[in-house]
Amino acid sequence: MYNKTEIDNIDIRLAPPADEPDRQYYFMAKCREWTQKFREQHGYSPRACVVNMGCQMNARDSEKLRGILETGGYELSSSEESEFVLYNTCTVRENANLKVYGRLGYLGSLKKKKPQMKIALCGCMMQEPEVVEKIKKSFPFVDLVFGTHNIFKFAELLTTMLESDRMVIDIWKDTDQIVEDLPADRTYSFKSGVNIMFGCNNFCSYCIVPYVRGRERSRKPDDIIQEIERLVADGVKEVMLLGQNVNSYGKNLDEPITFAQLLRRVEQIDGLERIRFMTSHPKDLSDDLIEVMKHSDRICRHLHLPLQSGSSRILKKMNRKYTKEQYVALAQKLRREIPDLSLTTDIIVGFPGETEEDFEETLDVVRKVRYDSAFTFIYSRRTGTPAAVMEDQVPEEVVKERFSRLLTLVQDISREMSARVQGQTLPVLVESVNGQDEHLVTGRLGNNLLVHFPGTEELIGQTVNVYLKECKGFYYIGERANDEERSEVKNGTVNTDDAEICGNERAI
Ligand code: 5AD
Ligand code: SF4
Repeated sequence: MYNKTEIDNIDIRLAPPADEPDRQYYFMAKCREWTQKFREQHGYSPRACVVNMGCQMNARDSEKLRGILETGGYELSSSEESEFVLYNTCTVRENANLKVYGRLGYLGSLKKKKPQMKIALCGCMMQEPEVVEKIKKSFPFVDLVFGTHNIFKFAELLTTMLESDRMVIDIWKDTDQIVEDLPADRTYSFKSGVNIMFGCNNFCSYCIVPYVRGRERSRKPDDIIQEIERLVADGVKEVMLLGQNVNSYGKNLDEPITFAQLLRRVEQIDGLERIRFMTSHPKDLSDDLIEVMKHSDRICRHLHLPLQSGSSRILKKMNRKYTKEQYVALAQKLRREIPDLSLTTDIIVGFPGETEEDFEETLDVVRKVRYDSAFTFIYSRRTGTPAAVMEDQVPEEVVKERFSRLLTLVQDISREMSARVQGQTLPVLVESVNGQDEHLVTGRLGNNLLVHFPGTEELIGQTVNVYLKECKGFYYIGERANDEERSEVKNGTVNTDDAEICGNERAI
């Protein structure tokens, strides 16, 4: 990674280097020259706003995009009235796309008032050719469009955009390249996502991800370890290892390694307190992984294990490669081996051909597994996926009615499961001052449940023991306890996402 002086020493009159990441640092230096000129002309720094619209992977990408902008001399801002606005889009469900179009209309009206404003789009949605066509036609004021495979080239694309008065579009179909050592601007000082792999090879029949994120590519373990060591040296206490299917990590490396083996290495990093990961595909979850989790003090007691449907017939049509019985047996094994584990899931309602009986099977799995929390989604037809052309798409009213029954069940169980640790004293990593009551701080248990307790700003980023006085459904009200008063429970956690509902992401 370059430091500031090294960037200032790059000679931008020379031709750009061919190798990465040197090439991108060259363009960041070029961007610095542009932002410096802007400052001289206007008397203030140009601001840049990156809007993250998707999952944790997308959020991590946004941190990297912000890191590049900051290194390029922009002042980071959360205002969409900034000189540069970048939407990092998602396309897993159609409503994500519709939201982008709506917000672009608004950005267009801002740009009319401030023509020097630059607007850029990137992320999964841009990998869909019809989307790019629509943007060209309906939103000609957009200045830059790029996709998921060439995100590492952002600095280069940004300088091209600054020098051009036409829409710059660069979308790659796929890549096998992974560029290391680019800067990132972390949202939290004390926790960070860490990509361990990119893409997905599973082709679940409803899912657009393999088409927009490409084939599975794992980062080398040494690169991952080095990144985490640097993060820890910079104050990070918790990492979330990210991949579409972390259980198949390492299979395609020159020297193959399993996810469980990687976890064993990550666990040995001094100073790292908590390790989380997502997402796990049930078909690939190994006994070795269960063993590593079971004996670890640092791996949070949480597993996100997407079910999608409880009907073996639908699971087959979804191309999930497990049956209802196999899934339930795996969940029961996990509950048996790691009793304090928090199990969460994703469920889709209304997949083509889903009958009332199929849906009842889903409810049955929810009752059997008793999820700590679940993200429930209404099936969304994604063009280009096999499910989009399947017959028997389920009528909207039927889906809505099922969705609401599922939600009620999931929430009832989640409430009961959340109350499991009431009366215990557990470590809480403090994240912020409470938004509604400044006398309280908010932190997370290892199992990802939120806890609000009296405290001040200085506690942010610290892990403190908290007595869990009262469970309020999906969060706790607690009281700080002495360091010695910790109950004998290891770290645990749950996940966050952009789901329509979630059992445990409730504010106070
Ligand atoms: N419709 C609804 N939900 C979907 N997901 C993925 N594709 C679709 C779709 N077409 C959900 C899955 C996945 C989560 C990230 O998003 O449940 O696990
Ligand atoms: Fe989509 Fe299935 Fe891959 Fe998850 S595992 S990203 S649901 S194709």
